[in-house]
Amino acid sequence: MIVTTKELFAHAYGRYAIGAYNINNLEQCMGLFQGNLESRAPFIIQISKGARSYTHKKMLEALIRTANEIFPDAVFAVHLDHGDEATCYDCIESGFYSSVMIDASGEPFEKNVEITRRVVEAAHAKGVVVEAELGQLGGVEEHVSVAESDAKLTDPAQAEEFVKRTGCDSLACAIGTSHGAYKFSGTQSLHFEVLEEIQKRLPGFPLVMHGSSSVPKEEVDRINAAGGRLKGAKGVDEGQFARAAKLGVTKVNIDTDGRLVWCRVHRESFRDQPENFDLRSPGKVFMKEYAKFIAHKNQVLGSAGRLDEVRALVRPR
Ligand code: G3H
Ligand code: 13P
Ligand code: ZN
Repeated sequence: MIVTTKELFAHAYGRYAIGAYNINNLEQCMGLFQGNLESRAPFIIQISKGARSYTHKKMLEALIRTANEIFPDAVFAVHLDHGDEATCYDCIESGFYSSVMIDASGEPFEKNVEITRRVVEAAHAKGVVVEAELGQLGGVEEHVSVAESDAKLTDPAQAEEFVKRTGCDSLACAIGTSHGAYKFSGTQSLHFEVLEEIQKRLPGFPLVMHGSSSVPKEEVDRINAAGGRLKGAKGVDEGQFARAAKLGVTKVNIDTDGRLVWCRVHRESFRDQPENFDLRSPGKVFMKEYAKFIAHKNQVLGSAGRLDEVRALVRPR
């Protein structure tokens, strides 16, 4: 059942966070649904601009619609990740997405407000909810590149003004994370004080944490033992998700960790079965491993086991 993120957030707020997972292909789609059902969790499917153009924007849509038929028990939102204004309108018009992210965080504050406000008006008119972003994460996004040293944490006073002026439904805050496998060096960590201050100013308002992959050392070691070269990669400690959830984080974005699972499975498969050329052989292992990975993330996010409670409260969009 496709629902809005708004309904999911209302149930989760202050208690647990919902996993928002980026997918690009069939195997991820199958593993995603299986992992969420095995762990009995509601979830958010994220589709980036890059994922939309990887094959054709209709291809992922068709996969997800079909998965919804194969797994009628699943409760999930379909969300555009890091959209620009034009892509947001395209997704809103499609009638398929229940949520879009307008990412105008690279623009000056006033311009960000102006663009976000326009997207909110168009989206709300069609029952689509909007995530916006204020502040800048480090690392590299598809259309924004920010050096780690230039990343700007979200200013809580600005966040309050931004939410009031734009009418957005949730806000992605920069609290020290970045996208990709290389997030922290030395003693850097999450800035919980920023979340605390935003929660005081915007009580009950759902916050979003981007760049939340953990980049597990065991995964990186296995990749490197099978020929990879990921040196010094470091991510977010999974033990910190519960604290973030209490402070209003209802959506936790995870993409890189899923790519690491893909990389490990395929590298090990090529290393251990050099005679194999059947794509289904690593594909089958990947779907299982990806499902296991999703179920694990849902446990640490606290969304595991919530599916039946959530289903009783939501309605299909
Ligand atoms: O934040 C970016 C997401 O990880 C999506 O990555 O734009 O390469 O699909 P992508
Ligand atoms: P990671 O690169 O940490 O997985 O973050 C993904 C993300 O924020 C997608 O919007
Ligand atoms: Zn992101």
